[in-house]
Amino acid sequence: MKYNRIGIIGYGEVGQAFTEGLSSSQGVDIAVFDIRFISDTAPNALETVAQAQNLKIEHSLKALVQGNDLIISAVTCEEAWKVAEASSRHMRKEQIYVDLNTVTPHLKEKMNRLIAQGSAEFIEVAILGTISSYGFKSPMLACGKEAQEFGDFLNSLGFSVKVLSEKIGTASYMKMLRSIFAKGVESLLFEMLVAAEKCDLLEPVMDAIVNHMDNGSFLNIAETWIITNVMHAQRRADEMDHVIQTLKHLNMQPVMSMATQKRLVKCAATNLKEQFKDIKPTDYQSVIKSMVEHDYS
Ligand SMILES: NC(=O)c1ccc[n+]([C@@H]2O[C@H](COP(=O)([O-])OP(=O)(O)OC[C@H]3O[C@@H](n4cnc5c(N)ncnc54)[C@H](OP(=O)(O)O)[C@@H]3O)[C@@H](O)[C@H]2O)c1
Repeated sequence: MKYNRIGIIGYGEVGQAFTEGLSSSQGVDIAVFDIRFISDTAPNALETVAQAQNLKIEHSLKALVQGNDLIISAVTCEEAWKVAEASSRHMRKEQIYVDLNTVTPHLKEKMNRLIAQGSAEFIEVAILGTISSYGFKSPMLACGKEAQEFGDFLNSLGFSVKVLSEKIGTASYMKMLRSIFAKGVESLLFEMLVAAEKCDLLEPVMDAIVNHMDNGSFLNIAETWIITNVMHAQRRADEMDHVIQTLKHLNMQPVMSMATQKRLVKCAATNLKEQFKDIKPTDYQSVIKSMVEHDYS
């Protein structure tokens, strides 16, 4: 097998979920290196966890990289490039370097070029779910020339990896774009619900949103928002003035609401209403494509 020895850099939440998922593989030795193995005072709590998992513990990045066929980086987004750079100095041909960190597509491409200089292979993985909820079964996206084989290997152990393409950066783009929605809605909920609590309306407001969202498929709801935006962006932007004033009156900073208003003003400025000749579009794709053509940025 290609992955006889797997080395993981970063033994935090993701690193530990990976070692747990990989532990059922036959004939695979797993080694780990974490900065805490050398920085934390003895007795080292993280080393104790690794020992309980029967992992080989390395005390340097060099030893971890030189001693394994497949290297997985699960450190932090701030450290991801530094670790790739340091690892590349010790890598040899036919090794594979997998980066699991949440970084930009451009940084993934840069890592790919760096690893390719030493003739090793690079795989990018984007973790979509929260590891604390789903562990190693969290949905993941993978890209790279070796991604299919790696994804098949992980899926045979119960992981949930979808291979997108050979092109590095695609998985990261998916993750970044999805985050605009997921983290944006999360922040909108906070702005709305804190204001609702200040008005003693927490549950009624949540119920109103739940009723709206549960009343049909999300695709229908999203399409309605996008299609009606063409006709009503300016009116909605004007209405947001009152929302902003309401939040200020409640001594809140209308952070998300001001951003919403800015976006709506930009939508109105593209004058899609005229481009669609006052006829309501029928699908979200035509609206979005038209916005791209008219330089809505
Ligand atoms: N957890 C999730 O649900 C999730 C989901 C999607 C993506 N991710 C991504 O996955 C990566 C890992 O996340 P995590 O949640 O496992 O983070 P974590 O729990 O903070 O673990 C990261 C570990 O790596 C160590 N580390 C930092 N720099 C290092 C270096 N240069 N060399 C060796 N070890 C180093 C950290 O030590 P220190 O604590 O001392 O820095 C820590 O023990 C991140 O890039 C994150 O964006 C995580």
